[in-house]
Amino acid sequence: MEIATVPTAPISGQKPGTSGLRKKTRVFMQAHFLENYVQAIFDGIGGVQGRTLVLGGDGRYFNDRAAQVILRMMAANGAAKAIVGQGAILSTPAASHLIRLRGTDGGLILSASHNPGGEDEDFGLKYNTPNGGPAPEGVTDKIFEATTTITEYRIAVAQDVDLSTPGTRRLGEMEVEVVDPVADYAALMERLFDFEAIRALFAGGFTMRFDAMHAVTGPYAKEILENRLGAAPGTVVNATPLPDFGGGHPDPNPTWAKELFDLLMSADGPDFGAASDGDGDRNMVLGRGAYVSPSDSLAVLTAQATAAPGYREGLKGVARSMPTSAAVDRVAEALGLPCYETPTGWKFFGNLLDAGRATLCGEESFGTGSDHVREKDGLWAVLLWLNVLAARRTSVKALLEEHWRTYGRNYYSRHDYEAVETERANALYDGLRAALPSLPGRQAAGLTVESADEFAYDDPVDGSRSEGQGLRIGFEGGSRVVFRLSGTGTSGATLRVYLEAYETDPARLGRDPAEALADIARAADEIAGIRQHTGREAPDVVT
Ligand code: G6P
Ligand code: ZN
Repeated sequence: MEIATVPTAPISGQKPGTSGLRKKTRVFMQAHFLENYVQAIFDGIGGVQGRTLVLGGDGRYFNDRAAQVILRMMAANGAAKAIVGQGAILSTPAASHLIRLRGTDGGLILSASHNPGGEDEDFGLKYNTPNGGPAPEGVTDKIFEATTTITEYRIAVAQDVDLSTPGTRRLGEMEVEVVDPVADYAALMERLFDFEAIRALFAGGFTMRFDAMHAVTGPYAKEILENRLGAAPGTVVNATPLPDFGGGHPDPNPTWAKELFDLLMSADGPDFGAASDGDGDRNMVLGRGAYVSPSDSLAVLTAQATAAPGYREGLKGVARSMPTSAAVDRVAEALGLPCYETPTGWKFFGNLLDAGRATLCGEESFGTGSDHVREKDGLWAVLLWLNVLAARRTSVKALLEEHWRTYGRNYYSRHDYEAVETERANALYDGLRAALPSLPGRQAAGLTVESADEFAYDDPVDGSRSEGQGLRIGFEGGSRVVFRLSGTGTSGATLRVYLEAYETDPARLGRDPAEALADIARAADEIAGIRQHTGREAPDVVT
């Protein structure tokens, strides 16, 4: 096999964000861009000589081409083996599972998650470590460093590898094993959940709609929900993954999965609704007439997890990202479980899961998961909900209301201001950060600021410290607002404003969150000057 050593120079803008490197697809398709980054990953992790990596992605535009480039570069860099999903497809949680199941040296996942796909949309690539989780900052720093010093990359001169059917092929010295993307993952789900009880639930007339949003979970959901659990044919909609996700925005929230949301809010909708994102790690859960906020979902699942065989022995602990509501904290307290608060980004849960300190984790950004893999897992969350509903013989709405009566309700909402000019967003953020020490005691929209700080995280497992992880303002009475700049956007800056208020009065548990949080939203604007800085009258997305 002929190997080309191609001279190159550093390309700016290759710093990995919250979850790998995400850019416009056309940027990734520029000469040397992908190749530079892949070589930097290899160099940053100490080379791939003799190593085995998992490879797959969410099927978005350029997924197939990028996979072939990566295979040729792995071969040229001396890798022993690649385990690739058929058609270069693997959902993110399935890739995480495969890395762990096969004990590989990690994996490469091609995805920009919930961002739209297509030639004019987004693409991404991330490296996951041998524990199956996104590379921690120590590793991504080395990768970034390598992107700034690169002088050449190695690539095999070869034809495309046939990835269209399972089987073992060779690319020079390297073995390429093409696997069914669904089989191992589905087997894992069968071990964790009471499939018999869920089958009985569907057999009893329980109805569901799962919106795969033309993205990667389609084949997984069809196989598990319809074929194995007996949900009616057609339960899974938009089930064929498309390179442009049907022109949609594959993000499971009330804005982007509006059709599903509206269906579940109608009186004649199905009993249960769910959706997942581009690469299958996010989830949104709905019942008839009930929207489950991701923070509440984590809390309810923590309270009810022992209904599922995989969690029958109880949980070791729980973890949530800082901007996620404290609903799960109340459950953890009641169950006597340790509860950890981490920065945004699933990678921060990795050490807690590896050390056996946490079993369930969740984020407000529609991410829920457990120690079964090292990524969040959309279908897993849906199956745990189904298992709980099957065991408890109740509806989503009734279960939520029971939960709030028991633990109180954390009203919660996130306001996103997208594609704000970077300088304007930075001016807001830096101004607010500078003002933090002066805020306690200040009145805004009838509320009094009690505390104000910038969140930093000391990892209790490896002692590492992560600074600059969001600005928190607490008000008297326990409500709060958090400000962050997104680390996953690809154009301009996205300002996220997270609003939360805790309520225990039984007469005030059924309010509209927008109304319950109106004062806090006004206070947030008064304190940070959101409208003035962004020039926007209202957020672009509210979840
Ligand atoms: C990705 C990560 C999550 C994170 C989310 C939001 O989905 O996997 O862990 O919560 O991005 O990140 P952002 O920086 O855009 O708020
Ligand atoms: Zn995702």
